[in-house]
Amino acid sequence: MATLTTHVDGLTLPNPFVIASGPPGTNLNVIRRAFDEGWGAVIAKTVSLDASKVINVTPRYGKLMANDGKEVIGWENIELISDRPFPIWLDEFKKCKDSHPDSVLIASIMEEYSRDAWTEIVERCQDAGVDGFELNFSCPHGLPERKMGAAMGQDPDILGEVCSWVMAAAKKPVWAKMTPNITHIEDPARRALAAGCHGVSAINTIRSVIGVNLDTLRPEPTVEGYTTPGGYSSKAVRPIALRMCMELATLIRHEFPGRSLSGMGGIETGDDAAQFILLGSDTVQVCTGVMKFGYGMVKPLSEGLLAFMEKHQFHSPADFKGKSLDFFTSHAELVRLQQARKAARAAEAAKVVQADGEWSGDDFVKQSQALAR
Ligand SMILES: Cc1cc2nc3c(=O)[nH]c(=O)nc-3n(C[C@H](O)[C@H](O)[C@H](O)COP(=O)(O)O)c2cc1C
Repeated sequence: MATLTTHVDGLTLPNPFVIASGPPGTNLNVIRRAFDEGWGAVIAKTVSLDASKVINVTPRYGKLMANDGKEVIGWENIELISDRPFPIWLDEFKKCKDSHPDSVLIASIMEEYSRDAWTEIVERCQDAGVDGFELNFSCPHGLPERKMGAAMGQDPDILGEVCSWVMAAAKKPVWAKMTPNITHIEDPARRALAAGCHGVSAINTIRSVIGVNLDTLRPEPTVEGYTTPGGYSSKAVRPIALRMCMELATLIRHEFPGRSLSGMGGIETGDDAAQFILLGSDTVQVCTGVMKFGYGMVKPLSEGLLAFMEKHQFHSPADFKGKSLDFFTSHAELVRLQQARKAARAAEAAKVVQADGEWSGDDFVKQSQALAR
């Protein structure tokens, strides 16, 4: 019988579906709800040691609609990391592990460029009982002004150094979350993995402007008449996320075999998840999907992925992880392959009957013509 059970970096998840860091993991109440609905793991909303510097605005989301305004396909947010005090988070991590000891709870952490700060946040979360870490090097708005988030993630030297500080303190698996707002996502990922991180996750949101209101002429989401570029997510980003996950999985395959990849960006169905796994993901994360459809979506996600596996007779997600990576090549190679196939077909068509035994019913006319040349 097919199973969704997923083993990654020493953790065992009932399925590969992980709540991505964001509103769906923003306090104890919703994290417990996610576990009770059956999610494989939860990555809590990103925390930092000093939440007093985190000040959110409203509105902070903007949507891109399709199908005559009936469907949300893109989502921009200018939300910051958690504005809830760190001691409250530590208390909630403990309570969560008390009530759900077998569920996998991962802390998403972000700090300034300070070894002491990164070491302290790792040790205190660890003491509270979390099962692993995701390092948020990828928030594209707000935090870069403090040289945090994507500002760190876009600088492979700094990122590598921070990862080595974290790895010196961490006793649990560590995933470094990559920003898509960079030309070669492999560059920072290589440094994170070289520093010893167990895996990488991708993608965070893509820096964006969701649109301009044609009545007020103001860009959205409009706060006191102004806006700032935010992060884009939901199904419209999926092709970009798939490409970046393919690049990261290829890096892992060639340079860091055995390390893990957690893929995300616009996943809403089991078939979406299957594509991320075929391109090398061990686990798949969902954020905006949960904001659109609710925690119960883990059931159709699981059913959809199981249906795909049964169709292809795969026993577990590990059976088909990375299976489609073999079919990427250069454009020059595509041209060569196509020319070779055309040449083979032409040679076949031009084949001249040498002996009477070679005449065939299907090609009889062609064979006759060839002999007339
Ligand atoms: C409203 C919102 C808030 C988010 N907050 C965080 C965050 O605190 N930390 C983080 O690492 N990613 C955050 N993300 C990014 C998501 O975890 C995820 O990387 C991204 O949205 C792509 O996945 P999705 O299309 O399933 O949403 C946030 C995304 C959204 C939409």
